[in-house]
Amino acid sequence: MTVAEFVDLRSDTVTRPTAGMREAMASAEVGDDVYGEDPTVAALEAEVAALFGHEAALFAPSGSMANQIALQLVVPPGDELLCDADAHVVTYEIGAAAAYGGISSRTWPAVGAEIDPEVVAGMVRPDGYFAVPTRAIAVEQTHNRGGGGVIPLATLRELRRVADGHGLALHCDGARIWHAHVADRVPLAEYGALFDTLGVCLSKGLGAPVGSLVVGSAEKIARARFVRKRMGGGMRQVGILAAAGRYALANHVERLAEDHAKAARLAEAVAPYGVLATAVRTNLVPLDLTKHALDAPALAAAARERGLLISVLGPRTARLVTHMDVTEAQVDRAAETLTALLRA
Ligand SMILES: Cc1ncc(COP(=O)(O)O)c(C=O)c1O
Repeated sequence: MTVAEFVDLRSDTVTRPTAGMREAMASAEVGDDVYGEDPTVAALEAEVAALFGHEAALFAPSGSMANQIALQLVVPPGDELLCDADAHVVTYEIGAAAAYGGISSRTWPAVGAEIDPEVVAGMVRPDGYFAVPTRAIAVEQTHNRGGGGVIPLATLRELRRVADGHGLALHCDGARIWHAHVADRVPLAEYGALFDTLGVCLSKGLGAPVGSLVVGSAEKIARARFVRKRMGGGMRQVGILAAAGRYALANHVERLAEDHAKAARLAEAVAPYGVLATAVRTNLVPLDLTKHALDAPALAAAARERGLLISVLGPRTARLVTHMDVTEAQVDRAAETLTALLRA
């Protein structure tokens, strides 16, 4: 069996560009973006900045690089970032904040999207010579290890109040902020207004092959361009990829509701077996196998034998992700496979 023949629920990054997207890529006008001469990249950056109500945006090769560029803008070397213990920026970015930015990170206990702003406020360390000063707070919308949970707007407003009260920056790892926008119907600009910097991805759920953006003020993005080059992220005729991103924004945001509905169907199928970690709000279905006979690797291996790929996040934690390349029929097949395995 080749990977293409499996029902692939490992991640929403496995999607392949559609015919329309490939056409947009093939006909893209391009130039050398390190010289600032790629019109398609410039158009994408202007479009994304406007969507979030910010002055500027910068195209980056990956969500990790977008986050790490942004963090270097808001936290000087040696100073502190606060985020949750399960945040992508401190879990899956391979120590980049420390390695590249010299950033000291401190985490609040993993609670996914259910953040208590007072807990965060209690962690802030003031400026002074005796303790590492806190400079920024980072949140993740939607929350990946938090099962695709959506941080409520009211919580984000409270966090903004905490940040303002202490003179801190607020960063959003918005790899899947589109999903939050579709799930809660919060305008992207309303999210944008709450953050100093955002990292947003075109390659998770939106179906572009590559690409993320850092969003912020003109001053911050000018600096971000410098930091991106330093990190080796300056790209040349990359309008080909920006065109895929523009196509994704025009055609693949509202359809995320379909992925959410598919995830809800999978959640409904597995819920009777007591393995649903949290209520499903978007396109991620987190599985907690603590009380089940099968652990996560055993479930994933058995599913694979039956043509279904899922992600193992820990010994007893697994994840299903819906996306535009999974058909309704494949969701039905996946639900049947999982039900059969969990029932046994
Ligand atoms: C929440 C979140 N942030 C950032 C990223 C990083 O994206 P990339 O894989 O493009 O570096 C991911 C990747 O899945 C993610 O889930």
